[in-house]
Amino acid sequence: MPGGGGGGAGGTQGGRPRRKKTRVAVLYNNDFEDSSPDGDPGYAARADVESVASFVAENLNDGDHEAVLLPVDGDLARLRMQLTEIEPDCAFNLCESLAQDTRLESAVPLVLELLGIPFTGSPPEALSHALYKDRVKKLLEEAGVPTPRSCVMRGPGDPCDLPYPLIVKPVREDGSVGISGKSVVHNEAELREVVAQVATSFRQACLVEQFVDGREFNVALFGFPTARVLPLSEIDFSTLPDDRPKIVSYEAKWSEGSVDDLGTIPVMMPQLPTTLAARVRRAAVDAFRAVGVRDYGRVDIRLAANGIPYVIDVNPNCDLSRYAGMARAASGVGIDYSALVKLLVRYALRRRVRGARKGNQEGPPHVAGASSGASP
Ligand SMILES: Nc1ncnc2c1ncn2[C@@H]1O[C@H](COP(=O)(O)OP(=O)(O)O)[C@@H](O)[C@H]1O
Ligand SMILES: [Mg+2]
Repeated sequence: MPGGGGGGAGGTQGGRPRRKKTRVAVLYNNDFEDSSPDGDPGYAARADVESVASFVAENLNDGDHEAVLLPVDGDLARLRMQLTEIEPDCAFNLCESLAQDTRLESAVPLVLELLGIPFTGSPPEALSHALYKDRVKKLLEEAGVPTPRSCVMRGPGDPCDLPYPLIVKPVREDGSVGISGKSVVHNEAELREVVAQVATSFRQACLVEQFVDGREFNVALFGFPTARVLPLSEIDFSTLPDDRPKIVSYEAKWSEGSVDDLGTIPVMMPQLPTTLAARVRRAAVDAFRAVGVRDYGRVDIRLAANGIPYVIDVNPNCDLSRYAGMARAASGVGIDYSALVKLLVRYALRRRVRGARKGNQEGPPHVAGASSGASP
């Protein structure tokens, strides 16, 4: 419900009309409430969204903005009613799944489009592409963006003729859900065991990809209509014990203080020869564009020994936690958290003006060339 109605429209102040605050509905999935860390292998990733939503709302609220937190479950008819009641100027979309099903992530922006409410982040098409790792691979390949060779295995009996080592990932998860040290396999027996395990735990196919043994960069892009590359970040694996593969596992992302967490340290603005840095940025820009990402997103890249930056992951609506890569990268160009979320609201509102009653349905955003500087 709108918080206190303080900044609503109308009323006067000393004879002048009181300025209307921009009302922002902050939408987030609350499906983690029905599960537990034991029964849901992606629980920590899912539960994190609530604290991100609160922090976004806290940072939006000021003299010009009024944030209304709105948890979303599978009841889209109710969501529609609530939005009609709240009458937001725009929505801050943090929904990553509905009813514990990540496939439904794009249902919320579709409802928003239907209601003509502009919203932050990527359009539903990009969100549903990004959900399926094999679809992203196809888009990248079609656009000529370097990405490791891969195949999809639906079960342990499926064929795979790629050379080892390989990495096995559930085909429609993110946040490293389903990825552990065991995901890197060196022979057929290991491969089939991990594929069988994913089929049992996640009831989904696997993307099996050539393992790129090289430096890992996270490239954040931000801005609308022109998204620009923010300063690079690299994962420092130097303190990871030698017996563990150099990857950012689920433990690394979601289990604070774990060995994997302590062995995967993000480093802002790493040392990198200019030509390689330019190649990494170029690949990120091309990947962002190929998947149709809008406003903000993060592209994960592994740089092979031959100097080719392989795109391994494209994340529209990436993690906006204050500790995550996007916020860190933005602060590198002087955009603090509060400015970051307010800029995203401004981008969404810009689409309202331009898209008029068509909601967010306008052409794809531009992406600045990799050479065009780092500030959005
Ligand atoms: N082809 C690959 N080569 C090397 N490491 C990889 C590869 N694919 C994934 N990884 C490692 O696994 C992590 C998670 O994989 P990613 O594809 O980014 O999945 P998610 O969508 O869950 O973030 C990456 O950050 C990286 O450390
Ligand atoms: Mg990733």
